[in-house]
Amino acid sequence: TDRYAVIGHPISHSKSPLIHGLFAQATGQDITYTAIEAPLDGFRATVEAFRASGGRGMNVTLPFKLQAFEIATDPMESARLAGAVNALKFDGERIHAQNFDGLGLVNDIQRNLGVSLAGKRVLICGAGGATRGAIVPIAAQRPALIAIANRSADKAHGLKTDFAGHAALQTGGYEDLAGESFDVVLNATSTGLSQAELPLPAGVFAPGALAYELVYGKGLTPFLRQAQAAGVTQIADGVGMLVEQAAEAFEWWRGVRPVTRPVIDQLTVPLV
Ligand code: ATR
Repeated sequence: TDRYAVIGHPISHSKSPLIHGLFAQATGQDITYTAIEAPLDGFRATVEAFRASGGRGMNVTLPFKLQAFEIATDPMESARLAGAVNALKFDGERIHAQNFDGLGLVNDIQRNLGVSLAGKRVLICGAGGATRGAIVPIAAQRPALIAIANRSADKAHGLKTDFAGHAALQTGGYEDLAGESFDVVLNATSTGLSQAELPLPAGVFAPGALAYELVYGKGLTPFLRQAQAAGVTQIADGVGMLVEQAAEAFEWWRGVRPVTRPVIDQLTVPLV
């Protein structure tokens, strides 16, 4: 039996053990997958102990995604560009690292929600870690435009520099969006966890737009309510992204691709 785990602080709410347990069952893989809470000052030691006891790989969640990048000996390009890691694979002394969040997001939008990003105008709200992970996977689908709006416009402008050569970005504050509209609007800010609304100008949602909240399990967030009030009918939260990034990690570790739809259906909380 090969051992895997998700590491974070706190970790009790993580859905990853459930998701990977369902994947293992469905694919007949002989693994265990547990949740490990590391002390805030003990990330590296906890990873080392898990590896020394035969652990094969880990998912990494808040607040350790940056530290996980630092302990990686072999960060893949996805992790290097995001500056953050959400999956580790142990291989002798080597620690391979990936960030599957962005790919999970793109797979959810295109395969599960049936919205192709090619040729579309895409707006990402926020300029933190979630946005960093999403940029390159979205750019790979050849959208017409990727715009990034952030409360602090300077932080958005910083992404334009950081991703130069990987993605052409239009960056600014929310007020700069006046008069523009987008086919896909993603909320990658942390407002999904609070009650804060984004100062989105009227008209930011194009007719038929998809509004996507990266947070999951919070029902109708302020962003999704804003979208609905603007007439958007296609809304989604991040449950599919969560399951799709897990599927990428599972395949990376085990070489077997699990089917995601039944797991997404099991985890979906209605958007009301
Ligand atoms: P994550 O890793 O989840 O992206 P983060 O790096 O802390 O988290 O980034 C949080 C994002 O949410 C930022 O883009 C932040 O905007 P600022 O850079 O201007 O702080 C955004 N955010 C948080 N609270 C917000 C609010 N009330 N209104 C608008 N944006 C908010």
